[in-house]
Amino acid sequence: MQIKEILQLKPENQTITAKGWVRTKRGQANIAFVNINDGSTIKNIQAVVDVNNIDEETLKKVTTGACIGVTGALTPSAGAGQDSEIVVESLIIYGVADETYPIQPKKHSLEFLREKAHLRFRTNTFGAVFRVRHALAFAVHKFYNEQGFFYLNTPIITASDAEGAGEMFRVSTFEANKAPKDENGNVDFTQDFFGRETSLTVSGQLEGELGAMALSKIYTFGPTFRAENSNTTRHLAEFWMIEPEMAFFELEDNMKLAEDFVKYVIGYALENCKDDLEFLQNRLLDEEKSKPQNERSELSLIDKLNFVINNDFEKLTYTEAVDILIKSKPAQKKQFQYEVSWGIDLQSEHERYLVEKHFKKPVILINYPKAIKAFYMKQNEDGKTVRAMDVLFPGIGEIIGGSQREDNYDKLMDRIHEVGIDPENLWWYLETRKFGSAPHSGFGLGFERLVQFVTGMGNIRDVIPFPRTPKNAEF
Ligand code: 4AD
Ligand code: MG
Repeated sequence: MQIKEILQLKPENQTITAKGWVRTKRGQANIAFVNINDGSTIKNIQAVVDVNNIDEETLKKVTTGACIGVTGALTPSAGAGQDSEIVVESLIIYGVADETYPIQPKKHSLEFLREKAHLRFRTNTFGAVFRVRHALAFAVHKFYNEQGFFYLNTPIITASDAEGAGEMFRVSTFEANKAPKDENGNVDFTQDFFGRETSLTVSGQLEGELGAMALSKIYTFGPTFRAENSNTTRHLAEFWMIEPEMAFFELEDNMKLAEDFVKYVIGYALENCKDDLEFLQNRLLDEEKSKPQNERSELSLIDKLNFVINNDFEKLTYTEAVDILIKSKPAQKKQFQYEVSWGIDLQSEHERYLVEKHFKKPVILINYPKAIKAFYMKQNEDGKTVRAMDVLFPGIGEIIGGSQREDNYDKLMDRIHEVGIDPENLWWYLETRKFGSAPHSGFGLGFERLVQFVTGMGNIRDVIPFPRTPKNAEF
């Protein structure tokens, strides 16, 4: 039985076995109290050991970090903070942990724990984060299944750059230094494994669109890779993205789906991760005590999540947002690092001003200048903007990027030529606009940014089990 299940039982002296890792051992003259955690819940079960029952050598091996199993009677507990405990009759040691075990029962910094990523799951914080991450992933599938979407697995190895940003990791079986060259001295990828140059995908969208042009509503949920050298608290080189793609959806439908989706999964976590979210909320309150008053958040974690699911997202155009930014105090006082004018790619300082200072709620910005957005976005009649949509969240910035897609073959072709993409590489994508094209839309949600928002973790490296960032692929 998992400890989570044991803790839900009525203690009636029934015989129970619990297995897990020792968090703490406290001793009195004849009795030892051992707290065991198996990761099924943030709560530990207390094992009460009568030192006369268990031989000394075995008991010595019960130290923080050791893996043990205890069997005994489940009895009501007199101690504070727990309803039941196990009065141990027998105890086995699965694996010892000596005094060099790095996760001792005291506060460790997140930076320290990142260097112990192989063991950090055994802390309350990371246990809570990864249980919440699981609940959110489950809620994603539940939401789309209930909405009639099909889960479509798009390839991880690809020959096309969906976002056109050129930030891709090459996939090759050539030995470094020994790649064959053509007569011009360039690497000859026709001799490589796939007979062409291939990379890890930055997005499953283009293939997702092919699926939507037959199954109507699909979503992907998989790893994506970006070789951008961004050392921020919100960028990973390997992250997970959820990309729904819907035939017959216009931009307005796309916005509504994005809002419903995010609210649904946050609501699911609130309902199903109470203990973990309360722990994370207290952790955050603790952390905030060391911050100056004006940098502390106005809402506690759970209040913030409830606020998001109970309020409409603010919706406005890029042009309206730029107007607000130009008239804003920080722009007037020249406090923005990047000056605001129509046409710029909004920086995170601008997005955060809109979300955190001006509207104080999630914001959906639409109709961006076409020059700063990807080639596949549907062009507006004004000839300047495209039907793009970014969802911006407090503390996170951009959590979702999406758009209505250009479904007109000629317009899409023009745009492909304009931005300098070779249409040969996208012949299959272009054919969907030749054969039964349909209005359609979709978006991508960065899963780790969602987990960050829900858990309140400040650094994206702390919400994925083994983060991949520049100069970092240790575990
Ligand atoms: O805005 P992006 O680049 O959009 C796309 O890739 C589209 N193909 C999605 C679509 O329309 N189907 O990325 C989508 C989201 C961002 O809003 C952000 O949340 C996340 O992916 N993201 C990252 N998350 C972590 N680390 C990175 N380096 C990320 N880059 C993007
Ligand atoms: Mg984007």
